[in-house]
Parts: sequence; structure tokens; C-alpha cells
Amino acid sequence: SSPLRLGIAGLGTVGAGVIKLIEANADLISARAGRALKVVAVSARNRKQDRGICLDTLRWYDNAADLVNDAEVDVIVELIGGAEGTARTLVEAALKAGKPVVTANKALLALHGPALAKLSADNAAPLLFEAAVAGGIPAIKTVREGLAADRLERIGGILNGTCNYILTVMRETGQDFATVLADAQKLGYAEADPSTDVDGWDAAHKLAILAGLAFGQPVVFDSLHVEGIRQIGSADLDFARKLGYRIKLLGLASLREDGLEARVTPCLVREDAPIAQVDGVFNAVVTESAFAGRLMIEGRGAGAGPTASAVTADLIDIARGKTVSVWGVEHSDKPALQALPLSAG
Ligand code: HSE
Repeated sequence: SSPLRLGIAGLGTVGAGVIKLIEANADLISARAGRALKVVAVSARNRKQDRGICLDTLRWYDNAADLVNDAEVDVIVELIGGAEGTARTLVEAALKAGKPVVTANKALLALHGPALAKLSADNAAPLLFEAAVAGGIPAIKTVREGLAADRLERIGGILNGTCNYILTVMRETGQDFATVLADAQKLGYAEADPSTDVDGWDAAHKLAILAGLAFGQPVVFDSLHVEGIRQIGSADLDFARKLGYRIKLLGLASLREDGLEARVTPCLVREDAPIAQVDGVFNAVVTESAFAGRLMIEGRGAGAGPTASAVTADLIDIARGKTVSVWGVEHSDKPALQALPLSAG
């Protein structure tokens, strides 16, 4: 059958990674998807940059939104990032035009996910975003599919690879925060503006998405309590170690009788707890649900390979004919959940 033709917006680490993965695994992808995935058009700021991939045969657009008007693009892959501006305009235009969208954009989904899910449902255009939460870990599929029959009680975990890397290396080497952050930036884990990572916002975006899906109701992002790791020094890490603990930046959400408890904060975890062993750029997503009990999935939460793997899995879903996307277990028109103030916890 005919290939699924892709238009990719954004050729940073992840965009280039997706092109490489689709090329490297072309045979198995075709076999599993029932058709080939073919990148036909791209949009990126810099045409000249060497990305280690050949882009000569692709159509180039300076304006990402033009990808939507290309009649030979079947699916829009949004890898630009940012809750507003080009990314949001592109995703909205694509869904309105009935074109499926695959995105890794957590900020966009955390702030506008429910509205986009409605656009997706109204126009029968799938909106898939496995890569937006915890990179290579199939967190979204776990909640939407693996636990589709279960009632989620708690969800969260280690949701930012950059912070986990920084805390791990500081603990192991005694290096200071700024030095280790610079390393994480070189390794390509950190966001363009690292304050998004180190002040907890990136983890909070992922937590809001996970909680919305888990509890079947959108979450008011601004109501989350968010703290980062900037204030943590080696003295804190040493002190925790002496007491038998490690410090991890955790995002945790639970639905209680009196409302939603959702927060991102550095936490002390016992050093023999499974989540304490999750080090470096690794993330861990933890769920607790009534029938399945407790799950913890650990894996790489950032970087080209893991994120490209998640993006491409979504593309395979679309190639196989997944037609509707849902926010939560069902499409929900329930009002957005406001997180309880910190004192209530
Ligand atoms: N900057 C993010 C992280 C990348 O460090 O986890 C994946 O969202």
C-alpha cells in the first residue's frame, strides 16, 4: 500500500533523530505498520546546518504552517516546541484541516491539551504525543492502553532527565550545579532554556499531561505547586546520604476525595527504594491503580534516540489506522481539575 507521507516541523536533536530512525528501521517499520513511513517535507530555521542526514530530496518550507497546505503531506510531526507561537499555530491548523498530528511538545499539551483534544475529536484528526512524556518510556500508552480498564489512583515519578542527571552527578562526584548543568546541555538533554528543566517546569508539564489522562479530566496547569533543584547543594546531598536517603525531583499526582494533589518538588527517597536507583538521564513513571497495583517503568527520558522511538511509534499507530485520539480514557468534557493548595496536603 502507499506510504504514509510525513511533514516534519523542527529539525533539532529529535527531528533529525526521527529521520535517522525511520531510515535505519525502514524494513521493520513497514512490516509492523503495514506501509512505509516516508518523510517528504520539512520545515526548520537553518537549511545549511549539518545534521548528518541527507535532506536534498525533501520539500523545504520556511513557514511551518505551509506543511499543512502541502496536499502530499498526510501527517504533521511537530518537533518545534513551545506552548505558543509557531508550534501552536501549526498544530491547530493541521487538526482543523483534518490532518493527524504527532508531537513531542509537552508545554503545548500541558497548557492547551484539552482544547487541542477537542479540535482533534471534532475534525477526526488523531493527536498523538507519546514522546511528550518521559522520552522513550511508553507512559502515555501505558495509561491509555495498558491501564484502560483500571482506575488510576496515583501517577508521577522522575519526569526530568536533566534534573535527575544533575542530582546524580552532583551526588557521585561532588561537582557543583553549574558545572553539571553545562554537561547536560552538551549532551543534548536540557531544554533550550535550561530554567525550564531546573526550575521544575518541564516535569510539571509532563505531570499535568499524565494526571489529565490518568484521571480523565484536564488539569489547570497554573494550580500545580512547582519547585526545582537550583537550591540544592552538595551539603544537602551529603546530609541525605548520611541519613540513608537520596534526593530526587519527583512529580506526583493523586486524586483524593477532597480534590487533586499535584506537585513537583525535590523529595527524600530511601536509598533502597526502587525509584532511588533510577539515576542519570533515566526517568521513571510510577502508576498506582486499583486492579493492576503499582507499576514502575524506567527508561531514558531525553535524547534523540528515545524520543525518536516514541514519536515513530505514534506514527506507526497512525499508519495502522488509529483514527481518534482521546483525552483521558474517554474524551472528557468534565471541568478542569484544580490542584489543592500545598497546605491541604
Ligand atoms: N529536557 C527534558 C529532560 C527533555 O531533561 O527530561 C525531555 O523532555
